[in-house]
Amino acid sequence: MSERWTLLKLLRWMTSYFTEKGVDNPRLDAELLLAHQLGLDRVGLYLNYDRPLTTSELGAIRPLVKRRGQREPLQYLLGSTEFWSLPLKVTPAVLVPRADTEVLVEEALKRCAAHGVLLDVGTGSGAILISLLKELPGWQGVGIDISPAALDIARHNLAAHALEKRGQLLNGDLAALPKRRFDLIVSNPPYIPTAQWDELMPEVRDYEPALALLGGVDGLDCYRRLTAQADDCLHPGGWLLVEIGADQGDAVTALFAAAGLTELFLRHDYGGHPRVVGGQRNG
Ligand SMILES: C[S@@+](CC[C@H](N)C(=O)[O-])C[C@H]1O[C@@H](n2cnc3c(N)ncnc32)[C@H](O)[C@@H]1O
Repeated sequence: MSERWTLLKLLRWMTSYFTEKGVDNPRLDAELLLAHQLGLDRVGLYLNYDRPLTTSELGAIRPLVKRRGQREPLQYLLGSTEFWSLPLKVTPAVLVPRADTEVLVEEALKRCAAHGVLLDVGTGSGAILISLLKELPGWQGVGIDISPAALDIARHNLAAHALEKRGQLLNGDLAALPKRRFDLIVSNPPYIPTAQWDELMPEVRDYEPALALLGGVDGLDCYRRLTAQADDCLHPGGWLLVEIGADQGDAVTALFAAAGLTELFLRHDYGGHPRVVGGQRNG
């Protein structure tokens, strides 16, 4: 990057650099990164296309462009993302919440009474817990995660949404859930089979926490552990809802049935892929 860089010229250069590096949405990422760095929104960028960039602005954007070119997720560079239309802080300690996970929130909301207590297993950034508590003012929630670093981010996000009094965070393993009963248990656990690791996009494989991704040889380890505890951890009539990988619908549904859960359902995401399995404890 030399002198006389206008905003539009830099945007074009970044777009072609990102394209060359295999980034999925090169123009959008260039716009979001540049807007973030200059403290503008995207409309602000369009209105300032002819503005020349200062040397210090160019110096600040250069390392970010390089990191995105190395396929570091855009959200880690921005330090935030949106889930359920809520801004959330994200760092490499947490999985970047995905839009597909919002169908888990949708399905959970269909099954919630006015009051209750929910458990979000593998809460990560707190995305699911926070979305549900926002929508359910009569509810309390508990988020559990094995990663203390992830819980620090969840804690920040709960506070940012003024939910720290209604949301409790626990460090623990999903193999031993809290010894109490919940009205709803939701989880987006790690579910990628070990052998699929090499096929993941560089953004995921090289930057997101492996702990948040890998679900054992067949990807189903966490579902086995969760369904084994459904009887002890759900009130009669309570629901267990989990996000699944696109080809795990039959296997996870079978685990739910074997655990005695009823009213089983499989929900597809908006891309048409199986995404959520749910079931209810009898009673
Ligand atoms: C796929 S991420 C989901 C994060 C967040 N709920 C979301 O949907 O964006 C899975 C989360 O489970 C946590 N985790 C992995 N193994 C765990 C275990 N054995 N016990 C509890 N949490 C675990 C990871 O640290 C990670 O935060």
